[in-house]
Amino acid sequence: MPDRRDVKGLDWSLLKRLTGMLRPYGWMAAGAFSLIICAALFETAIPLVTRHAIDVDIAGGDLEGLRGTILVFLLLVAGGFVTRYFQQVLTGFIGQRIVVDLRRSLYRRVTSMQMGWFDRTPVGQIMTRLTNDVENLNQLFTGGLILIFQDILSLVLIVGVLFWMDWRLALMLLAVVPVIMLATFQFKKLVRAAFRRVRALVADVNTFLQENITGMAVVRLFRREARNREIFEQINTRLMDEHLRTIFYFAVFFPLMEVLGSVATAGVLWVGGGRVLDGVLTFGTLVAFLNYAERFFRPIRDLAEKYNILQNAMAAAERVFEILDRHPTITGGEQLLPKLKGEIVFEHVHFSYEKGIPVLKDISFRVSAGSSTALVGYTGSGKSTIASLLLRFYEPQQGRILLDGVDLRDYRLDELRRRMAIVLQDVFLFQGTLWDNICLGEDYPEERVREAARRTGLLDWVDGKAEGFHTEVSERGQSLSGGQRQLVSFARALAHNPDLLLLDEATSSVDTRSEGLIQEAIAELLKGRTSVVIAHRLSTIQQADQILVLHHGELVESGTHRELMDHEGIYHRLWMLQSRNGAAASNGKPEA
Ligand SMILES: Nc1ncnc2c1ncn2[C@@H]1O[C@H](COP(=O)(O)OP(=O)(O)OP(=O)(O)O)[C@@H](O)[C@H]1O
Ligand SMILES: [Mg+2]
Repeated sequence: MPDRRDVKGLDWSLLKRLTGMLRPYGWMAAGAFSLIICAALFETAIPLVTRHAIDVDIAGGDLEGLRGTILVFLLLVAGGFVTRYFQQVLTGFIGQRIVVDLRRSLYRRVTSMQMGWFDRTPVGQIMTRLTNDVENLNQLFTGGLILIFQDILSLVLIVGVLFWMDWRLALMLLAVVPVIMLATFQFKKLVRAAFRRVRALVADVNTFLQENITGMAVVRLFRREARNREIFEQINTRLMDEHLRTIFYFAVFFPLMEVLGSVATAGVLWVGGGRVLDGVLTFGTLVAFLNYAERFFRPIRDLAEKYNILQNAMAAAERVFEILDRHPTITGGEQLLPKLKGEIVFEHVHFSYEKGIPVLKDISFRVSAGSSTALVGYTGSGKSTIASLLLRFYEPQQGRILLDGVDLRDYRLDELRRRMAIVLQDVFLFQGTLWDNICLGEDYPEERVREAARRTGLLDWVDGKAEGFHTEVSERGQSLSGGQRQLVSFARALAHNPDLLLLDEATSSVDTRSEGLIQEAIAELLKGRTSVVIAHRLSTIQQADQILVLHHGELVESGTHRELMDHEGIYHRLWMLQSRNGAAASNGKPEA
């Protein structure tokens, strides 16, 4: 799992790529950096002004001079304030723009991922990428990168001034730096590991929640609430433990830094005080030194925290880039299709979802334009897979699929899918109105939608609703019955007016009366176009021009209903089973 992979401390190529994202905002970024340089200069100058006030004005009894010096002091403070204000606004703006760009490209990438990726990647994990990880990167741009630059700049300026004032004292102050570095380094190492675990656990929590909320009905049905609460409790507690561990590290580290700073200050007081008494150091310089000592430790301490942000951002960046860099392996060709005749040819198609587990084996068949073909077979025999291959959700490992004589891979993907409609095994409805769910964002005229609803037998029901087509469908269509959902998906397919229709066992979840309705709806759908119907109720497909029988991924029989009955093979067996049980009652899935 990418979440758990070890991330190196600082990955320069990642950092380079991240800073590269600033490029479109080059001028603004340059502005922010200049403002930071100004702010750092102003702030570093302040102790020097104090020194001047003590050593020159106060020592010389120059009240007029002191007033002027204090004015300069205040101007510097004000300058620091104003530059910081503008810098923060600017970096905030840049950060937000980058994050918007990033979220957009991530979303695009995710929506163009091939289906196999979704099979392997838990939804919670994908959500974490688009929310938490992007937020971490936001922090990098609004805080991290720029503030790190600022801290390093302050350090360099301060060390420079310290050496310029008194190198002996400066060395004395710098003596604690190795200790601080060591402590910081250790701290960073511990915190980094802890945060990695936190992130992995957060992703676990998201995945767990997502699955359990989506599958709430199943959870209830199997009375898994208590057990799931227990599992959640465990993840939750582990998450808390990891958070507490990081809190502990922080609680030790920052006070420790405080102590180290104070020890260094005491050292400066001791050595510096001695030198003042010896008359080699002015009193003002000592005060300035103490002042700098305080300013000196702040950026060092902050750096450790900024490093944290950087760490988080690096890990986030790595995962985000992993998605951004993943190019869809299923891409379309150039071929446009004005209108499909709808001839489908499978030539020796082999396919497996996972290596070594063949799902389709050497499948060859032909569906002539305008004809209807039915796919039958036991559950798991590969029927839906054939539909997925036709839509290019997946790519066959061997063989090819031709549509109107052209390899499927040569068509533009959007064109291809525009010409086909599929009524899936599980109907998926989006949150929105019935209208939205039928049109799916297409701008169909009202007449067309009404006509589609009428022909699929949905219209009476819709017109009976107070809000008609504007009736809200709750998330995943839970407010509709199974049969209604199916009718909606039929209306969707019909409004779409495809050249080629794929129907995946669309009659399995309704009662006999609705089935009658649906039969009529299907007949309407199939009229005048090429169709591939995956049917479990064999009674519905007797009229099909061709019936293909799949068995364990192999095409074992093909022909018309009559021919297959005479052949007395698998189809015949299925048929006998169903007619014995009564076609309407059977779901057509006898045990293999
Ligand atoms: N996304 C997937 N990843 C891995 N294996 C899959 C995936 N989808 C289906 N399979 C496997 O491929 C085989 C064929 O599945 P498919 O959905 O095509 O069967 P089906 O004939 O449509 O069955 P049913 O009648 O139950 O709908 C099954 O063994 C299934 O476990
Ligand atoms: Mg299926």
